[in-house]
Amino acid sequence: MEIIKANLNDKENIKKIADLLYIEVADFVWNKDDFIEKQINNKEYFVAKEENKVVGIMSFRQRQNIMYIETIAVIKEFQGKGIGAQFIDFAKNYTRASGFEVLRAYAFFQYNTQKFYLKNGFTLLNKLGKYNGAKYYRFEMEI
Ligand SMILES: CC(C)(COP(=O)(O)OP(=O)(O)OC[C@H]1O[C@@H](n2cnc3c(N)ncnc32)[C@H](O)[C@@H]1OP(=O)(O)O)[C@@H](O)C(=O)NCCC(=O)NCCS
Repeated sequence: MEIIKANLNDKENIKKIADLLYIEVADFVWNKDDFIEKQINNKEYFVAKEENKVVGIMSFRQRQNIMYIETIAVIKEFQGKGIGAQFIDFAKNYTRASGFEVLRAYAFFQYNTQKFYLKNGFTLLNKLGKYNGAKYYRFEMEI
């Protein structure tokens, strides 16, 4: 398994995997073509490849002095094999290499990913977030 920067040829594969993130909320942008294309062009998108097949995706966003994991998803057949943990490791290195000391991940309640983030070194911030009415957990890690 290798994690490499995505290019526009990966867009369709990314979109299919980003569909796993979909929840019913107004203005859900994370699986939209424009959004994905913009993030690829900004060089913020990465893919996990196994024998040349895209099995996972992760994208970042920088805001102020904090690095955010904007999207993270692994295809069903490859979940639970440690790829998510490898993505988090990659995100830590990426944060450090970008000169930041704080990595955050926000996760809608529906994803039920608390265990995943806590196991991978994040702490849960007290303050919850809300996006057009959909609540999300805010996880943070100091690098
Ligand atoms: C959450 C996700 C990225 C984790 O990737 P992964 O490769 O399955 O993660 P790992 O194999 O490193 O770790 C799996 C652990 O995460 C936990 N986990 C949390 N949410 C999970 C989920 N939806 N599916 C599978 N495992 C999940 C499991 O309990 C497992 O822990 P265990 O091994 O102690 O049972 C992946 O399951 C996924 O893409 N889920 C659907 C999309 C999603 O919810 N993305 C998160 C957006 S915040």
